[in-house]
Amino acid sequence: MNPTDRKLRKLHVVTHGCQMNVYDSARMADVLRPLGYTTVNSPEEADMVIMNTCHIRERAEEKVFSNLGRLRVLKEEKGGEMMIAVTGCVAQAEGELITQRAPFVDLVVGPQAYHRLPELIAQAHRKQGAVIDTEFPAEQKFDHLPDTAAPQGVVSFLSIQEGCDKFCSFCVVPYTRGAEASRPVASVLAEARRMVAQGAKEIALLGQNVNAYHGEGPAGSTWSLTRLLAELSEIEGLERLRYTTSHPNDMDDELILAHRDNAKLMPFLHLPVQSGSDKILQAMNRKHKADAFRRIVDKLRNARPDIALSSDFIVGHPGETEADFQDTMKLVRETGFALAYSFKYSPRPGTPAAGLGQIPEDVKDSRLYELQAELRRQQDEFNAATVGLTTPVLFTSKGRHEGQIAGRSLWLNPVVVEHPTELTGEIHMVKITRSNPNSLIGTLISKEQIAA
Ligand code: SAH
Ligand code: SF4
Ligand code: F3S
Repeated sequence: MNPTDRKLRKLHVVTHGCQMNVYDSARMADVLRPLGYTTVNSPEEADMVIMNTCHIRERAEEKVFSNLGRLRVLKEEKGGEMMIAVTGCVAQAEGELITQRAPFVDLVVGPQAYHRLPELIAQAHRKQGAVIDTEFPAEQKFDHLPDTAAPQGVVSFLSIQEGCDKFCSFCVVPYTRGAEASRPVASVLAEARRMVAQGAKEIALLGQNVNAYHGEGPAGSTWSLTRLLAELSEIEGLERLRYTTSHPNDMDDELILAHRDNAKLMPFLHLPVQSGSDKILQAMNRKHKADAFRRIVDKLRNARPDIALSSDFIVGHPGETEADFQDTMKLVRETGFALAYSFKYSPRPGTPAAGLGQIPEDVKDSRLYELQAELRRQQDEFNAATVGLTTPVLFTSKGRHEGQIAGRSLWLNPVVVEHPTELTGEIHMVKITRSNPNSLIGTLISKEQIAA
């Protein structure tokens, strides 16, 4: 079979992990479309399955091998006529170990080599045995992806920065995604304009450390994230901007003030802090203290009083005592989060913390339970406080039930409104009437009602 002939081929992509993987999966489909691949919704229909994987916690990795087990059966049923590719962070971290454990895998491709997929697929068709590419090529993959991307919709994600130089004690990302690299300004602006032309009203900029962005601008200049956001906010038709994920140490005053000065920047920030204990923050190599996080939060709230905060937490990092954990609880109670993600520490091979004395599983369980109960309470409290507000909602789709439409608030909450016709892509004022654990319910307010 010659993959460069334009026979119709069916591609199924399974995505695990973070938004960056979601973005990458879409770009892989973009790269393969010119070769005749269309995407299908199940592996049963597919000639090629890409599993875009995540390595962040042990559970994520286990999922890869259990899913691969299912694909093996399917491939056998199809008499071997299905190509299986493993991409993403497990591919990068494990390379040929994957094909040792799962010899029916045809391709293993790391996150920096996606633009080479057509060539790698051709190789896999020619060769007996698997093709593995986990190089970090010097050229940036951003520059080699086609600009014929499929539209993402009203809310679009745009990757602007990749990799990480921070080496937190617990984290695999610096190893799986490589050194921090920022995409050049011109390339970001071109993709943003294309997204808006395709109907995007909201763009979320993505990066493992997105606020460390320092992209090459015109005439040898270097642009910060703040500068980039300012330029993006000039794009006509683009209504909302967000960025994720940020590190506290790159949260400079300029960026904090952008939340006051840039009208398109949404009042929501995901700022992982991981722990409230200075001792654990140091053990984690986060390079800041808990009070530094508190000061950033104060400044953000001064700049933009309605800003909603979100964060990530890890419980049970090696060395965490009950007192350390209570410092985290204290920080959470003092700060107040609209949303948060919390995890039990999971030792990852090759990371510094994995070699230290581990906290017993039952201790991690009870700390996670206590933390999540408080975070749940805060999220409910935040949602409840929106009841009675009249606030702009960007409508993104039909609702799940007939006669309903769905959108999102300034603070990322899904909002459901009864309305007979679709308003996708439009922003309307909505009076919030009820809050649910993960969504808000409201009624549409007409311009006349607002004027009155
Ligand atoms: N770049 C981002 C997020 C990286 S991964 C940042 O710097 O915050 C997303 C989250 O997964 C992290 O914020 C952390 O809370 C969690 N995480 C990462 N490694 C982990 C591990 N080994 N065990 C448990 N949680 C982990
Ligand atoms: Fe991982 Fe830390 Fe880098 Fe975030 S900053 S990706 S947690 S090493
Ligand atoms: Fe997972 Fe890689 Fe993202 S490890 S969280 S898919 S950067």
